[in-house]
Amino acid sequence: MNKHVANPKPAAGKGGKSVLSERELLALEAKYCSYGDTVHYSELPKIFDGCEGSFLYDAEGRKFLDLQMWYSAVNFGYANKRLNGALKRQIDRLPQVASQYLHREKIELAAAIAQDAERKFGRKGRVHFNVGGAQAVEDSLKLVRNASKGKSLMFAFEGGYHGRTLGASAITSSYRYRRRYGHFGDRAQFVPFPYHFRGPKGMSKEEYGEACVKNFARLFESEYNGVWDPKGREAEYAAFYVEPVQGTGGYVIPPPNFFKGLKKVLDEHGILLVVDEIQMGFYRTGKLWSIEHFGVEPDVLVFGKALTNGLNPLSGIWAREELINPGVFPPGSTHSTFNSNPLGTAVALEAMKMMEENGYAKSVPSKGAYFLEGLEDLKRRHKIVGDVDGLGLALRAEICEPHDGFTPSKALVDRMVDEGLKGDLEYKGGKYGLVLDIGGYYKNVITFAPSLEISREEIDMAMALLDQLFARVTKK
Ligand SMILES: Cc1ncc(COP(=O)(O)O)c(C=O)c1O
Repeated sequence: MNKHVANPKPAAGKGGKSVLSERELLALEAKYCSYGDTVHYSELPKIFDGCEGSFLYDAEGRKFLDLQMWYSAVNFGYANKRLNGALKRQIDRLPQVASQYLHREKIELAAAIAQDAERKFGRKGRVHFNVGGAQAVEDSLKLVRNASKGKSLMFAFEGGYHGRTLGASAITSSYRYRRRYGHFGDRAQFVPFPYHFRGPKGMSKEEYGEACVKNFARLFESEYNGVWDPKGREAEYAAFYVEPVQGTGGYVIPPPNFFKGLKKVLDEHGILLVVDEIQMGFYRTGKLWSIEHFGVEPDVLVFGKALTNGLNPLSGIWAREELINPGVFPPGSTHSTFNSNPLGTAVALEAMKMMEENGYAKSVPSKGAYFLEGLEDLKRRHKIVGDVDGLGLALRAEICEPHDGFTPSKALVDRMVDEGLKGDLEYKGGKYGLVLDIGGYYKNVITFAPSLEISREEIDMAMALLDQLFARVTKK
């Protein structure tokens, strides 16, 4: 709560204009804004005023290096000229049109995504749009319920996150998101993900992945394990929802063999694989889709966030033709007024072209490796860093108690986030802030999602600022 801003004093405006001071704004926020639509991690919410590249700016012009980029919605950097330009051009040409009519950008965007999927997965399919990741997850639930003749049970992972609408939170592992609200019908059984750092000791990453698959396969060995009728050869579950690399769960990267083993079990039992790429898609991990690292083909793929570089909440799903053709999923199956809006589809189409041209498949793994080297160096020098890992520019640092480097320390990470937002870390004679995101099963993981356009110099700066931050929060 913002107790300390309860009686703000009005401040003089900037440049002669009457603008509210930060204190006044925070007082209004405390009174008039619902807290239910945010996560309000820091004690004093930070107000930003501008952005460019890898940086956010506050009203005083302080510069904050952003290492989370709006939870990966802004993969291509703030104020990306090419994408902003596409949006501006569309505003001047065809900014509005009802989604029952067509526009060129929607069709070209759907074709670009579906043709890419056909090349990569060898499967024909179609693309369906909505706004916001959770809404696209809802659409995918309708799709798999329809394909399975109404089954409302799903598998999903412990540590998994798929959004906060009622359907999406029913397949998201945290009970906290459901506790007050219950759920309609859909429900997931949560299965362990190969989170090696906190897995059983004495197993390699590969072995732990295999053990997780084996444990899952065991559910189908007998009808009395609760999910499978061997006589009818039918599972009670329609689909398995996966994030190939867990996002909110703390950027947990499974071993390369894991999804192949899992998919085999799903195929043997007629269960669909739904891949949630909302956070890890669009080259965050060095490939368009993070599932491409793992050698399996999805039945349904859900995307959102960086599709428009955060300029428009466009989201969507790609699904195999058999699941989504108009004969089985007719007009009106889902609909939202803004679903394939021309501003969003125009930016997204430009983003798809840019991704093809910009060589992210090469630059992201190499920048990621450089970033990870920096994190490994920090781990060697700070006892609180228990684990670091990364795939492309999705990286993690797990913060632990200094005495064992293993017991999760949410308190230290919370302090890091708050200290980072003060904007007083030093680098080459200047003062900077750091924008960090927290994830993990124990909320003790810094989940790094820097701009894919981040420079090596900015990565050096990130390491220097993190070094100071780690020292500051552990100072007695
Ligand atoms: C993997 C994943 N799925 C779904 C969602 C929900 O997307 P949105 O917040 O746009 O509703 C998120 C958001 O962080 C996500 O990371």
